[in-house]
Amino acid sequence: MEDLPNCRSSPTFWRLVIPQKMTFQTYAAIWVSGFVIRTNRARLKADCSPEKAVMDEASRIPAGVDTGRPTPARIYDYMLKGHNYFQVDRFAAEQILKAAPEIRDAAFSNRGFHQRAAKWIAEHGVRQFIDIGSGLPTVGNTHEVVQKVIPGAHVVYVDNDPMVELHSRALLDSAGTISVICGDLREPGSILDHPELRKLIDLSAPVGLLMTGVMMFVSDVSDPWALVSAYLAAIPSGSYLSLSHLTDDYKPPAAAEGFRAVFDTATEHMYFRSKAKVERFFAGLALAEPYPEAGPGVTFTGLWGAEDVELADSDGSRWLYCGVAEKP
Ligand SMILES: C[S@@+](CC[C@H](N)C(=O)[O-])C[C@H]1O[C@@H](n2cnc3c(N)ncnc32)[C@H](O)[C@@H]1O
Repeated sequence: MEDLPNCRSSPTFWRLVIPQKMTFQTYAAIWVSGFVIRTNRARLKADCSPEKAVMDEASRIPAGVDTGRPTPARIYDYMLKGHNYFQVDRFAAEQILKAAPEIRDAAFSNRGFHQRAAKWIAEHGVRQFIDIGSGLPTVGNTHEVVQKVIPGAHVVYVDNDPMVELHSRALLDSAGTISVICGDLREPGSILDHPELRKLIDLSAPVGLLMTGVMMFVSDVSDPWALVSAYLAAIPSGSYLSLSHLTDDYKPPAAAEGFRAVFDTATEHMYFRSKAKVERFFAGLALAEPYPEAGPGVTFTGLWGAEDVELADSDGSRWLYCGVAEKP
């Protein structure tokens, strides 16, 4: 038996199945009925209302956590060598790596960009961040990065995977600088009006809007460009957008299709976009220069903020375009 989070001997497992804020009644109900873990029972549609983020009586898996299908957050966690994935995610990730072995490097490259961009935005004086599609906690979470620059900076994590919410709750600090929302970015109104967001984010002051590695899970039908615009419209001038996105520009079609097709069986489909389509997310904003003498624009994730651009360039990095831009 491998060290996966659905192993009952693993502390990670218990952190997963016992949310931080479970009520006494819920504990009691679980105790009385006994713990019988049937990991493949919970083929539930993701529903991450607070009431659902407790153990589902029938399956003994937190309601909303789908262990029957891979999820983007858990596949990404596997790629980043985390521990919060199930067998089904590992299988999916291995399929991806068979199609394109450099995808693990792509994941690290994307995470590196996320961190460098968040730090850069904090260094430009921004004290509050909305991290949309935040993913499972990992080494160097957003609040850890930005609070090194601005102690006490506020960070709101938003993700539609209930497992992200469960694990992210462990990050909550007593100072109350962090909060976690389980929500779908395709509903900007419900995210922006969420009381947890309003408690920490002053929408009349500049915001760092972080949307890294997430818009590729939104189809054209949902108009991802209009969605990003809706978030940008809610924040003032002096705010920044950081965004990265998978692309298959320059990639062998068989590798790209093998990678993409894995998400046909996942909780979210995945869509590659061209450079021109990624640039559209930044329409009307002032793009930053990603590295000296590059000129303002969109580049590959490895190159953005790289100290040595030649060393940072890699096949993995070239799976993702990214940019950081200021709202004028
Ligand atoms: C590849 S991970 C990226 C994590 C992090 N932003 C980073 O760049 O390191 C994508 C994340 O987006 C989340 N996600 C996908 N679709 C979403 C949606 N419609 N609303 C909110 N989150 C979503 C997934 O659950 C996952 O955690």
